[in-house]
Amino acid sequence: MRQTISKIQELKNAGEKITMLTAYDYSTARLVDDAGVHLILVGDSLGMVVLGYDSTVPVSMDEMLHHIRAVVRGARMALVVGDMPFMSYQASVEDAMRNAGRLLQQGGCQAVKLEGGVVMAETTRRIVNCGIPVMGHIGLTPQSIHQLGGHRVQGKTTDAAKRLLEDALALEQAGAFAIVLELVPVQLAKLITGKLRIPTIGIGAGPFCDGQVLVINDMLGLFTDFVPKHTKQYAKLASAMKNAISEYCADVKTGAFPSAEHGVSIDNSLLQDL
Ligand code: KIV
Repeated sequence: MRQTISKIQELKNAGEKITMLTAYDYSTARLVDDAGVHLILVGDSLGMVVLGYDSTVPVSMDEMLHHIRAVVRGARMALVVGDMPFMSYQASVEDAMRNAGRLLQQGGCQAVKLEGGVVMAETTRRIVNCGIPVMGHIGLTPQSIHQLGGHRVQGKTTDAAKRLLEDALALEQAGAFAIVLELVPVQLAKLITGKLRIPTIGIGAGPFCDGQVLVINDMLGLFTDFVPKHTKQYAKLASAMKNAISEYCADVKTGAFPSAEHGVSIDNSLLQDL
């Protein structure tokens, strides 16, 4: 049976940690799903690690839908969360409801994620009222990168910490089923997690969140433009891939590939009159 938002809540209630990873394509979604990860996020990090943009800002609804559909085809057990791209929910609540609906109806995911706290509480409430589960996202919100001035830890002063706590409480009140805390000091993430009934999912927010999320290309060592400080690399797939590609090129050049086993042979006599 697929994960549901109630089962995710039960994990927090039982004190069990929640796992979330991003995925952007069918094959990766299959692997993540088979590994038993609770939530798969089709994040708008897609823009940077798959599409090569220099931020998440250019990602469009069509791009998100294209990748959400692929992930949904590969995910049988995990709850798939589709990220709402920049300007698909900020201009009006009506836009937000319509676009959240598109991600579920045309993409096939089971929940959406959007960035922002108090300012997005009403939008969250209205989307939830349409029957669409919403995951919040506060702290470093990459769609506001030009306003924030860089990938910096948020909530480092008492005022900023108070605002983040208010953001989290507002989202919970609005009906969000979970909240991503990105680049938040460990102690503040612990405090927010303790004050909320719903789960927090941390990225660069320390060990006290109810769950953790990483960008899969980062944790597999596949994205090499930069390695975020909060990432743990569980594999070095970029070098494994480079080695494999070099070996393939060498084999093609020397004739070692393809060999007999990679082709189909017929009796030479069949071609003798041609
Ligand atoms: O887009 C994304 O991958 C995200 C995670 C970093 C939480 O929002």
